[in-house]
Amino acid sequence: SAYSKLMDDKFLQCLYQDSSANATQPEFVFTQQDTSYSPILQSTIINLRFSTPTTPKPLAIITPLTYSHVQSTVICSKSFGYRIRIRSGGHDYAGLSYTSYDQSPFVVLDLKELRKITIQSGKKTAWVESGAMVGELYYWVSQESQNLGFPAGICPTVGIGGQLSGGGFGALVRKYGLAADNVVDAKIVDVNGRILDRELMGEDLFWAIRGGGGASFGIVVAWKVNLVDVPEKVAVFSLSKTLDQGASDLFDKWQYKGHKLSEDLFIRVIIQPTSDGAGNRTIQVIFNSMFLGSVDQLMETMADSFPELGLQEKDCSEMSWIESVLYFSIYPKGSSIDVLRDRQPEPRSYFNGKSDYVKEPIPEEALEEIWKWCLEEDNPILIMEPHGGRMDEIEETTTPYPHRKGYLYNIQYFEKWDNETIEASEKHISWMRRIYKNMTPYVSKNPRAAYVNYRDLDLGTNDVDNTSYLGAMKWGSSYFNENFKRLAMVKGAVDPDNFFYYEQSIPPLISSE
Ligand code: FDA
Repeated sequence: SAYSKLMDDKFLQCLYQDSSANATQPEFVFTQQDTSYSPILQSTIINLRFSTPTTPKPLAIITPLTYSHVQSTVICSKSFGYRIRIRSGGHDYAGLSYTSYDQSPFVVLDLKELRKITIQSGKKTAWVESGAMVGELYYWVSQESQNLGFPAGICPTVGIGGQLSGGGFGALVRKYGLAADNVVDAKIVDVNGRILDRELMGEDLFWAIRGGGGASFGIVVAWKVNLVDVPEKVAVFSLSKTLDQGASDLFDKWQYKGHKLSEDLFIRVIIQPTSDGAGNRTIQVIFNSMFLGSVDQLMETMADSFPELGLQEKDCSEMSWIESVLYFSIYPKGSSIDVLRDRQPEPRSYFNGKSDYVKEPIPEEALEEIWKWCLEEDNPILIMEPHGGRMDEIEETTTPYPHRKGYLYNIQYFEKWDNETIEASEKHISWMRRIYKNMTPYVSKNPRAAYVNYRDLDLGTNDVDNTSYLGAMKWGSSYFNENFKRLAMVKGAVDPDNFFYYEQSIPPLISSE
């Protein structure tokens, strides 16, 4: 309509006004009239559930080229009454970085152009902008030195911005903790459009952005991280067992050992239905591992600590740490590490996920039932990632991520599908709700812990007309346990009017004193 065209024009004028004198100003705002709008919007939507004709779409997509563009986006959006959705890598499980469900007009601030990585290898630090993918950081760190790495997630296409905001764990988690645990400085654009580094933002806000979930406090444009030592060669293996091959017993043993092994050894477990030689559906348990050392040392460590797995030298390979990143990724075997630098996108699909944490090994008798629930569904996958090691040494309150000592492993329930119908989605989503409910006796309770980076709106959402701290406790304490209150107080101090509101943003708690 004419009115919305007028608003578009005024909003554009506001955004471009800093640079209006410069006619060669490159475009960084795309409204629904622009032909690039749709391709840019789609570019990092990897969950097709949030890319349908009825998914609410932004009025405009802004792809800032400089920090000042981020600042003017905050100032202009505030004065026009638009909400901002912040997107780095677009992997949010609920699509909250590019859609919004509360009917208010919104713009997407897509940081894909802000992706500079500067490495100070002598100091073992790097500055990385939020729009880089974790795989790019891994790549450039490895180009600087074969002996340096960074402990973030296994999937290389995830954005730095979202992942570091929510924690970030992968194959180095037992040795070095979360990605967020290794952040030493950051630059954030706050609700007033100021750029603040650690010193200017103060320790409370700096604490909150390292795991308190993205998008509640401002736009983090860059992070300074500590790089970590990795040996020239690491050893990897992926050993698969079906039920007939003793998978249940081995999984049971892993539950007692996975979190207690040497910090150099990370063995995660992937559980999924498969078909056996005779064409029957059965359960396959894959032990998927990285060891910071040689195959010989790995064999020794396994003989001492997990002989039951029966690992043999022929099951293992030695490679550089950066090659191990590819080994764990979805890229085809034999791909060059350049795929990381080239920002190869994640394949798109419809998917759903949920998370749990286990504090006491699941009783062996219960496993059969869990396998049965998995066999009832088409293509589910349960990924269990051990904690322990460094994770036990970090206090629950050091960063907002509270699942530390005493948490044996994380479970992620995940399912992908490619049928676009609503019925297909509903079937898969309701299966996952069922297994999540059935798992209640076997997982952490009071609160039942969840991982904010595997965002789950079933845990609860804010109410747009009345966002309350108590209302948000349900999901807030699952993600952050006792840290939720401090997060809400930081929010109350830095964004009391709740400009950075979204379905699972931290509500502001304003102290009455
Ligand atoms: P996206 O851009 O969607 O942002 C996620 C959230 O953070 C949104 O709320 C967004 O607004 C906010 N945000 C983004 N950038 C921000 C910024 N610069 N400042 C403030 N807020 C910002 N996790 C893990 O720990 N280990 C793993 O191995 C994996 N693997 C994995 C595989 C796949 C296929 C998926 C889909 C996801 C994972 N994850 C994961 C989960 C992942 O860490 C999580 O989804 C991250 O939040 C995604 O970050 P992106 O920047 O890609 O997402």
